[in-house]
Amino acid sequence: MALNVSVEELKKIRTPFYFYDMDLLDRTLRTVKTLSDRYGISVHYAVKANNDSRILRKISEYGFGADCVSGNEVLLCAENGFCGEKIMFAGVGKTDKEIYDALKTGIYAFNVESVEELKNIDAMAAHLGVRARIQLRINPNVDAHTHRYITTGLDENKFGITKEGFKGAVEAVKNCSNVDFLGIQFHIGSQITDVENIYVQACRKMNEIVAEIEALGLEVRSIDLGGGLGINYEDPDAELIPDFATWMKTVAENLKVRSNQVVHIEPGRSIVGQCGSLIARVLYVKNGQKKNFAIVDAGMNDLIRPALYQAYHKTENLCAEAEGRGAGKYDVVGPVCESSDVFGSDREIGLTERGDLIAIRSAGAYGSVMASMYNAKHFAQSVYSDDLASAEKQIDWFTR
Ligand SMILES: Cc1ncc(COP(=O)(O)O)c(C=O)c1O
Repeated sequence: MALNVSVEELKKIRTPFYFYDMDLLDRTLRTVKTLSDRYGISVHYAVKANNDSRILRKISEYGFGADCVSGNEVLLCAENGFCGEKIMFAGVGKTDKEIYDALKTGIYAFNVESVEELKNIDAMAAHLGVRARIQLRINPNVDAHTHRYITTGLDENKFGITKEGFKGAVEAVKNCSNVDFLGIQFHIGSQITDVENIYVQACRKMNEIVAEIEALGLEVRSIDLGGGLGINYEDPDAELIPDFATWMKTVAENLKVRSNQVVHIEPGRSIVGQCGSLIARVLYVKNGQKKNFAIVDAGMNDLIRPALYQAYHKTENLCAEAEGRGAGKYDVVGPVCESSDVFGSDREIGLTERGDLIAIRSAGAYGSVMASMYNAKHFAQSVYSDDLASAEKQIDWFTR
């Protein structure tokens, strides 16, 4: 376990909570900064992965841009240090209010996903007397070989404009008098682990698309490959900082870029995934006929990925490890009244007792942002490694 904090300190904190290793986040961001400077790639953090204010502030301190998918994400970024000119706004269903706010903020670009949306943005820009910068989001029909819920670049997905729609979209752009066309964006999917192979294909596809769009008469100055770099969920400690080097090298070597063009990427999971763990307390250990259950106080309302995508998160019994106890096998389950409220089945973790702390690792991305109050549960608090003192403390009901 590599949480860089003593179990005794964590025990005092009210569970469940998201624990963020701010030092790891810093080291990850430094790696991304060094590599993106080396390859001349402009990085826009995908805010949907985690929109915690402290995390946003840290990311904005590195000078990165943001990729947002709602008006509130745009506002959160503006409040947390991101410069408006580095904010992109994507999403298939932008409301008029969201477009209005983004035009007022003066963002870098809208990633436009349909001709109807384009016309709406043009009309709203005319009304406000401003110009709207846009990139066209294309559906490249590239298979990212990932879970079907997080693949986004196939013809059957709802995102972007398909090849058949290029001509119409380009004509529509030409007819918009309040829109400045910057370029092309796509995002093929998330949690991509076959990095070299998939991004070579993505770059080739992007080269073809840029050539097609330019042949239709628009100059492409901005090329945006989206996010998608995967992280090591099985063994996070073996790869706390994901392989940004292979990703950016592959992009730099395979994308055709002229000197007047800028390349953008939109990583989310790979930036914040490994710095977060969901920490839960064992309420009860129940030895069933066929299984032993470690019932914890965090549930699918706190982290829905296992229930939603059958996602794997490594689970560790921090107390058993600290005390060097032997191993046991458990289903680690939450308290929510759903059979899918399971963090892991048949997990080999330390011999477990009531009161132990369980770390559900690699939960920094698509964790707290997807939490709900299902079963009227409270949201888990966020605790930062560099500010443990301000975490709410656990109340011990029995000894009070
Ligand atoms: C358009 C777009 N960009 C970037 C991302 C971030 O992807 P990831 O977290 O896999 O890097 C997503 C995720 O769904 C996305 O839809």
